[in-house]
Amino acid sequence: MVTIEENQRLTEVGRGTEMGELLRRYWHPIAAVSEFEGHATKPVRLLGEDLVLFRDRSGQYGLLERHCPHRRADLSYGFVEECGLRCNYHGWLFDQEGRCIEQPFEEVTGTSRFKERVKVAAYEIRECAGLLFAYLGPQPAPPIPLFEPLTYTDGFVQIVFSEVACNWLQCQENSIDPVHFEWLHSNWTRELTGDHRRAPTHQKIDFVEFAYGFGYRRLLAGEDTSSRSWQWQRLCILPHLFQPINHFEWRIPIDDRRTLTVVWHYSRLPSDRAGYRQETIPHWYAPSSEGETGRYRSTHVINQDTIAWVGQGEIADRENEHLGRSDEGVRMLRRQLLADMAAVARGDVPKGIAPDESVIHLPGRSGLREPLDRDAWWEDLRLFHRNTESDYFSLLAGQPIEVRTQFEAAAGITHDEFVERVQRWETMS
Ligand code: FES
Ligand SMILES: [Fe+2]
Repeated sequence: MVTIEENQRLTEVGRGTEMGELLRRYWHPIAAVSEFEGHATKPVRLLGEDLVLFRDRSGQYGLLERHCPHRRADLSYGFVEECGLRCNYHGWLFDQEGRCIEQPFEEVTGTSRFKERVKVAAYEIRECAGLLFAYLGPQPAPPIPLFEPLTYTDGFVQIVFSEVACNWLQCQENSIDPVHFEWLHSNWTRELTGDHRRAPTHQKIDFVEFAYGFGYRRLLAGEDTSSRSWQWQRLCILPHLFQPINHFEWRIPIDDRRTLTVVWHYSRLPSDRAGYRQETIPHWYAPSSEGETGRYRSTHVINQDTIAWVGQGEIADRENEHLGRSDEGVRMLRRQLLADMAAVARGDVPKGIAPDESVIHLPGRSGLREPLDRDAWWEDLRLFHRNTESDYFSLLAGQPIEVRTQFEAAAGITHDEFVERVQRWETMS
């Protein structure tokens, strides 16, 4: 059981808190590279800190404290120069290291050395797989763990953001929770569509530890150990990443009560599209509620997850839980996080830090990249296609038409062809 005090230690992410210090040992994806096509700044709140991410005219990224040290204007409304970001209020200019390098009026009055005493907090930004990662911890920063799928360039990748109104840990505990698939995704989806038949039940679950976290396997009624859900582990990667099969899902703490879901989703293409190379990786922001009714969308997988997470409260009151046999993975994750918080406090390295920049092969992923001819490819798409809307993207509702069109062009299919397939699948199910 988790006590009120332990729950607080596990969920507070601010600087100086135990979990805040642990999380500051890892890299956090906070933006897509494609967000900076036509935009130079992005306001960011990360681990309870208000920041501004920018790309200057020389192409360098920087991440600075949001408020100008002069009279506290919002630097996300500033403008970039060849080097650095200039405050729009009185024109002070800051470089990527947070140094003030120009104070226009002070230069005129001969007090130009004043700037040497002015500095803002600055953090490191690195680019990887179309994402921009931030590091807020002590130097030297560790490498960004280069999980193998992030190196794939022969498929269609899209990045999706969605803000969730609760603490990050309840989202991450879902990464090690096999049984929820049967209820939250399978049975509930059936109920929502008027189908009262029950999905196959879980017969067996198994949790495995590996260098970057934990994996789980599940065996459903009617399956044997050759099934996909047993062969392909779903991975809960420390501290805040979920890697089910063909996508990554980070649960990035905005602050104690809000989380940014960052999805990096890879779609294989039919084998006759070999040679395809994606020029830029598109991104989009998924709306979380239905608009007028204010109720959450329930049509897509992560929308359903979001309903479960937010339903647990802004910060789940874990002291009132009753954990069962299905929650063994949740216990493992909490034990590990408590041990890693203690490790950081001792000055040791927590679990899940990459030793170098080499590619990391994830366990339980054999056969994921075998070429698929067009028929097999449609079958594969069908497997991941869970909703009845006319988008192929099963994870979050609201995919913009431009992104769908880019996917269809990459795969060499038309939208009519896709809609016709979906209708056929629905009559078959
Ligand atoms: S508040 Fe930024 S330059 Fe004055
Ligand atoms: Fe889920």
